[in-house]
Amino acid sequence: DKGEYRHYMAKEIHEQPEVVGRTLAHYVDMAAGRVMLPEALPFDFARLTRVYITACGTAFYAGLVARYWFEQIARLPVEIDVASEARYREAPLERDGLTLVISQSGETADTLASLRYAKSQGQHTLSVVNVPTSTIARESSVVMPTLAGPEIGVASTKAFSCQLTVLLCLAIAAGRARGTLDAAGERRLIDALIRAPGLMAEALTHEGAIEILAREVAKARDVLYLGRGTSYPMALEGALKLKEISYIHAEGYAAGELKHGPIALIDESVPVIVIAPHDAVFEKTVSNMQEVAARGGRIVLIGDAKGAAEHGLETLATFTMPAVDAMVAPIVYAVPIQLLAYHTAVFMGKDVDQPRNLAKSVTVE
Ligand code: F6R
Repeated sequence: DKGEYRHYMAKEIHEQPEVVGRTLAHYVDMAAGRVMLPEALPFDFARLTRVYITACGTAFYAGLVARYWFEQIARLPVEIDVASEARYREAPLERDGLTLVISQSGETADTLASLRYAKSQGQHTLSVVNVPTSTIARESSVVMPTLAGPEIGVASTKAFSCQLTVLLCLAIAAGRARGTLDAAGERRLIDALIRAPGLMAEALTHEGAIEILAREVAKARDVLYLGRGTSYPMALEGALKLKEISYIHAEGYAAGELKHGPIALIDESVPVIVIAPHDAVFEKTVSNMQEVAARGGRIVLIGDAKGAAEHGLETLATFTMPAVDAMVAPIVYAVPIQLLAYHTAVFMGKDVDQPRNLAKSVTVE
């Protein structure tokens, strides 16, 4: 039931504060300011030399964000690949190591095959899935459910933000086990994390302005998304979301890669969506924005008040997200990225819940 919404996708975008809150309540002891994993783990994070992550599409991008979290919070090296490659690479995986798979449906053929390959190598398997009765959930040694509820729109939205939420909790648990995150550090991250649902609700209030910008984006043939750090996978996700429902060609790039090729595309016809909270790499991203501006590119900044006050460049539009801890930012920034894709596609008259050529669950390779 779509309720008051025109599309399932809109309903699911708006449900995010609630479902991320529900997922957090499942994994966090709010009073103690600690992550509380519902299941005992059959492996010890302190003994792992790395984590191997695999998934497809949007779930893969959640994994790419988690790479930064595991490496920064837990000093745990991460190897990550799309499941369609991971299943055939025959990557050497150490016995008793950890493979983490991420899937909304829990039925994606390539992700399932990668999970089975990891098991054949003697790895522990942990899945972050939204459908608890799915094949991937059944075949994993540990299941960490996302509590997003059924996701009907083909483009993944609330499952993605819940995947990020679970993965950040897991990275915090890993940091505690590995001694790289002390109790005070954990409490600080948890305090930031439990504010996420409220900040997502605040991000949703930009919908009207995003809808106006969408009319401009709808005229473009190509759109570039740029970001650094965790905003790099968010740029990839923004581009995927836009292309899959509006059919506008979009590409996400690490902002620092701009001058290694994509800068050749920049002119006034190509909107450049820059995802840049005021974090440790913000200034570096500003220098890339300057490169875009110098070539007549039109910048759309999805950032915060501090960054907006600092960069001094003219933008086509600026969306000011609430101030948020840098680690938690991807969860909040998912909202404007999804809204921009949604409103662009709706303005163009596309069927956003059932985009052409796509299926909700990809059970064949
Ligand atoms: C994009 C999208 C797809 C899925 C991918 C994996 O919006 O929905 O890219 O993320 O097909 O599906 P799951 O998560 O079910 O394994």
